Amino acid sequence: MITIQQLKKSYGQQPILYLPQWTVQQGEQVALLGPSGCGKSTLLHLLGGVLAADAGSITINGQTLSTMSEAARDEFRSKHIGYVFQDFYLIPSLTAKENIEWALTSQERGSAMKRKQLIEQWFERVGLSDHMNRYPSQLSRGQQQRVAMIRALIHTPPLVLADEPTGSLDWETASHIMQLLLELSKEHSMTLVTVTHDLHLAELYPTTVQMKEINELIKQPAQKGVLV
Ligand SMILES: Nc1ncnc2c1ncn2[C@@H]1O[C@H](COP(=O)(O)OP(=O)(O)OP(=O)(O)O)[C@@H](O)[C@H]1O
Ligand SMILES: [Mg+2]
Repeated sequence: MITIQQLKKSYGQQPILYLPQWTVQQGEQVALLGPSGCGKSTLLHLLGGVLAADAGSITINGQTLSTMSEAARDEFRSKHIGYVFQDFYLIPSLTAKENIEWALTSQERGSAMKRKQLIEQWFERVGLSDHMNRYPSQLSRGQQQRVAMIRALIHTPPLVLADEPTGSLDWETASHIMQLLLELSKEHSMTLVTVTHDLHLAELYPTTVQMKEINELIKQPAQKGVLV
């Protein structure tokens, strides 16, 4: 699903990432761990095509991101990537259901009737059938993240990227949300890469990867201080 080769990324003069080689198989569920500042979000942004690499290649689902223009990467992202953020980013003036309708309609997916059914199915699946008409401010943080997960997954993108999706939730809610994310991605055969700080939550994943295993720039403990 993901093949990275000789990937390099710097901010200004500061090199952040050098990944000689990293692959993630189709359907794999990977927890990505590492200290603050080691480049986890930067790597996710590169995988999602939000940022462009300085050198090297990123191939996702058979498409080579690194040779695409910014516009082509945007198009690629809307079709192939589901993004789950720490801070949900729901539109406050729209209800939960409208947030999802807006995301689906903007992609012109199917008839209105089909979209309505699909949305209802997803709300039911995440246990929020009774909360569809609430505004984000009327939902708990865990419920808001469920809605945000629907928005990210309802197009069934082949690759889901989650950047500390439980980072702002209490432990019990975090563990439920992480479990749900794993279940949903499995049910729809999506590949999942999740950044987390939490070792216990990472243990829920079949595969865990430490950034220092793949990012050559933080392989030497002595160099860590430079990056943080
Ligand atoms: N837009 C930017 N311009 C300059 N430097 C940046 C930029 N974004 C990130 N950095 C730096 O790049 C390094 C990696 O940042 P990144 O956000 O990828 O880390 P992270 O592993 O996600 O950290 P955290 O766990 O705190 O979220 C940090 O040193 C950060 O200060
Ligand atoms: Mg980060």
